[in-house]
Amino acid sequence: MNVVVVANFDSMSAEVAKMVFAQIVRKPDSVLGLATGSTPLGVYSLLAEYHARGTDFSRLTTFNLDEYVGLAPDHPQSYHWYMRENFFSKVNIKPDRIFIPNGMAEDLEAECLRYDELIKQAGGIDLQLLGIGSNGHIGFNEPGTEFGTTTHIVDLAESTIRDNARFFESIDQVPTRALSMGIKSIMQAKEVILMASGGSKADAVCAAVKGPVTTAVPASVLQLHPCVTFVVDQAAASRL
Ligand code: PGA
Repeated sequence: MNVVVVANFDSMSAEVAKMVFAQIVRKPDSVLGLATGSTPLGVYSLLAEYHARGTDFSRLTTFNLDEYVGLAPDHPQSYHWYMRENFFSKVNIKPDRIFIPNGMAEDLEAECLRYDELIKQAGGIDLQLLGIGSNGHIGFNEPGTEFGTTTHIVDLAESTIRDNARFFESIDQVPTRALSMGIKSIMQAKEVILMASGGSKADAVCAAVKGPVTTAVPASVLQLHPCVTFVVDQAAASRL
């Protein structure tokens, strides 16, 4: 595991954007695994700048980690919306090469199987971007998630609902379920980059990097991944 400590959110974003850019240069038809939340916003905006300066994204395929159950793609808090607003509308990834779990599917179990099959058909994920929850979750894989999980239906942890309530008018409006790629799906990516910024992530980062590998801290499983880099700012690294 590589741990890169940088000064702040902006330097974290610049470092990760550079790593994604390098991946696209090395392999223009890469399959990228993408994350949502506050943490990757700077990365997406820098990647949009790379595109504005001429980088072609048209051969990429992308898979998002997760989506809330019950939020339609045009709901402003859906991850479909987030990705369109913050990234896809600013680059030239082909719409039919963009994949996000469908949280509105009638048969959610079938949707999970379909999503795993799509990842497989694409040849697997080359580079997976991750944030980390204050409880150590990755994607929406909450503490206690088995390491063998593929895409699955998740009951969100209370702490996650609280953390995400800031994006909704009230906590009652935060969905309680999501579809998420599983721990095994993430571990199968060829390379993983986990980003973290701010003191609220310091305990989770410390447990993930230095603690035992345990389902109680889902990100700790990354200690077992052969090619993982944590890019964390000083505040998030303060307990290391
Ligand atoms: P955040 O969420 O980027 O909004 O802090 C990260 C996560 O929960 O994975």
